[in-house]
Amino acid sequence: MIQAVRGTRDLLPDETPLWREVEAAWRRTTRLFGYREIRVPTFEERALFERSVGEATDIVSKEMYVFEDRGGRSVALRPEGTAGVVRACIERGLLGHRKELLRLWYHGQMFRYERPGKGRYREFTQVGAEAIGSEDPGADAEMVDLALDFLRAAGFEKLRLLLSSIGCSACRPAWRQAVVAHLEPRREELCGDCRDRLLRNPLRVLDCKEEGCGAIVASSPSPADFLCPACRDHLAALRRRLDSLAVPYEMAPRLVRGLDYYTRTVFEVVDEGLGGQNAVFGGGRYDNLVELLGGPPTPAVGFAAGVDRIVLLLRERRGAPPERPDIYVVCLGAEAQAEALGLARELRGHGLSAEVDLLGGGPKAQFKRADRAGARRVLVLGEEELRRSVVALKDMESGQQREIARAQLLAALSAAGGTK
Ligand code: HAM
Repeated sequence: MIQAVRGTRDLLPDETPLWREVEAAWRRTTRLFGYREIRVPTFEERALFERSVGEATDIVSKEMYVFEDRGGRSVALRPEGTAGVVRACIERGLLGHRKELLRLWYHGQMFRYERPGKGRYREFTQVGAEAIGSEDPGADAEMVDLALDFLRAAGFEKLRLLLSSIGCSACRPAWRQAVVAHLEPRREELCGDCRDRLLRNPLRVLDCKEEGCGAIVASSPSPADFLCPACRDHLAALRRRLDSLAVPYEMAPRLVRGLDYYTRTVFEVVDEGLGGQNAVFGGGRYDNLVELLGGPPTPAVGFAAGVDRIVLLLRERRGAPPERPDIYVVCLGAEAQAEALGLARELRGHGLSAEVDLLGGGPKAQFKRADRAGARRVLVLGEEELRRSVVALKDMESGQQREIARAQLLAALSAAGGTK
């Protein structure tokens, strides 16, 4: 038997309602903030991610699904959404000369060849937002506010937001130099990958998940001590905005994001419920990326949240109520079934979900199925009911059953709060 590929999952009908709930909260929140949807391809030229996310990152060097297509192009399944969105904005001319802030959101599958574990998959779903065209710390504050509002709308109560600044191209070299000076004497204690990173892209050592490297990294210089005045002011202004919005956050000077394109602000929301892989969402500012990918100099900020992780935590905390039909129609005999199909159609026309029993058998078997489907109410149509133009209506919670004239059914259901 062929099985699902390791790291991929099927989401079964009992699981999808909670997914849709979270995705609806996302759509509601982004609409309220004035963000508009963009959809970009799930695979792109490999070079796009190498240039933006960074060749020395784990995401690109170890986790990207890359392949040559039949036309000999080197392509990659997208490991994240920002690069594709920025590529689309440049290519499709959304970053014209007008001074305007592009507020965009996306939703879709991402692919990373990671070791599968709790909340970590090889195919996973992100929702993300990007505000492209503003350097103002207000844009960073709005992004954080949007992300937290979304999580609250999805049902989260306690949120732990970590915030830091990793500086800009003016001040990062000094930090980088200090990191190299810290790591160089302990080169032999680093893992093989990190010895290589130390040469190619030393700041990536800070992101290493190996235990031995972690201990060395923990005492490495913090970017906070190297920020230039402009970056310091930017961070201070962002903190004032967050304070005035009463957004609680923790400064996390050693917060490391696994992507190279960040400048200044970086943030994450973590949740202990996820264990080691604990980020629910992450993001930050990327003021150089648009230009790096061939567009006009354009500052930007954004984030992405892992829907798989959000759903996992919500399910653990409050369960996931299954979908239940409003009405289940038990029908006894072929004639009754024909009538039941028409009746169900009428009910759906009034906004009630209705399922007709199509497997037959006696009332006992059909009631059992109604119960398993979680139906709130059951309508019974048998020969006797047909002859007298009535239906039997049973409330599955109270167990009460009464007979209603067919013509009165909708009125009776709406009196009981059944129609919208
Ligand atoms: P990221 O931190 O790599 O950032 O991913 C964002 C979120 O995606 C994570 O916080 C996590 O919830 C989820 N995620 C990542 N990998 C996995 C996985 N293997 N399985 C399940 N969930 C996962 C980015 O992707 C950036 N593009 C965010 C961004 C947008 N920055 C600026 N704009």
